[in-house]
Amino acid sequence: MSHIKKYIIKEATRKRCQIIPVSQEILKEFRSISLELYHLMYEADAIDFCVYIRISDEIVKFIKPNELSKELLAQVWNAIQKPNSDVEVCVRNRDIPRFQRLIDRIRKQKINALLEKDPSLDPQALHVFADLSSASQMIVRGGINENLARKVTAAASYMVSNLMNNDVAMGTLSRMIYIDPTLYDHSASVAMFSVIMATRQLEKKLSQKDAVVLAQCGLYHDTGKSCVPSCILNKPSSFTPSEYKVMQTHTILGHKELMAAIEVGAPIDPLVARVAVEHHERFNGHGYPYGRRGRAEHDSNNGIHLYTRIVSIADAYSALLMKRVYKPALEPQEAIRLMSKNAEKDFDAEIFRTFVTGCEKSLHKVTVQRKAS
Ligand SMILES: [Fe+2]
Ligand SMILES: [Fe+2]
Repeated sequence: MSHIKKYIIKEATRKRCQIIPVSQEILKEFRSISLELYHLMYEADAIDFCVYIRISDEIVKFIKPNELSKELLAQVWNAIQKPNSDVEVCVRNRDIPRFQRLIDRIRKQKINALLEKDPSLDPQALHVFADLSSASQMIVRGGINENLARKVTAAASYMVSNLMNNDVAMGTLSRMIYIDPTLYDHSASVAMFSVIMATRQLEKKLSQKDAVVLAQCGLYHDTGKSCVPSCILNKPSSFTPSEYKVMQTHTILGHKELMAAIEVGAPIDPLVARVAVEHHERFNGHGYPYGRRGRAEHDSNNGIHLYTRIVSIADAYSALLMKRVYKPALEPQEAIRLMSKNAEKDFDAEIFRTFVTGCEKSLHKVTVQRKAS
């Protein structure tokens, strides 16, 4: 792991804020917040909870409800962005529902603003996406239990029943990620792209019931990332080889966490855990963690499951659309073009072909509507 440069808390901050020394017990009372969600807080007019930052072995009560200001938010943002600083933003467990309500409200406002700006986008697809993002963030925060699994299943079912007949959803979601990246939620978009692919584009279309399981595969595929240290997960530049190795463990860790939750009664199909461990496998066997190859229908021991082959296309497409410090955001057509270069090695050719055709058709419909409006 890279060398960690301890972030120094300024004296003025020490005087202004309550500082809590970190212990295993104290840490259990907090949940860390992803960079994407933290960024949405810039749109908040008021908060009804405190924002904490953990800096190495101390937790600082940094923003109280009556102190919310863009300046303080920016100070935290700059601290997290410093490479290897070992800083993360946290909220107390008991405040998570308040935080979630705030984020849901901001997301809805942003979606309404986006629909006004670009009326060619499909409102239904965007509202379903907002609902799904809420479920996806519960998973990212870690700690899967029966209650969470029920909420995730409800969001997955809602998405499937609302999108199975929507032929502009894929184009709308692709455009949304490009136009307003702050609305992006990785697992929600992977779930949505996977379900649209499987229910509208594949020759042998999935039933509604199977599509709900596939949606859950998309939502839970990166579950293991909640076990990866945040200094690696939130790193604003590309990984060193050893950091990349740690990152790769999210496949096995996700599988372990999902199986443990299933064992204690969480209503999750075991297939979801399989997709979590397999989603970085590649069709020609050069993926990880096991180097599985081809179709499980042909080789039940070493082949890759159909749902994983769908999710891995959605995963790659969704990641390419998003801007990262080390790469620009790509226009949907450009992302498809880039994926096509290695498609034979990476993906199931049949599924990839139907994905490209379906995605292009959907994008075309959205573009035509845009021109007409
Ligand atoms: Fe992943
Ligand atoms: Fe992913």
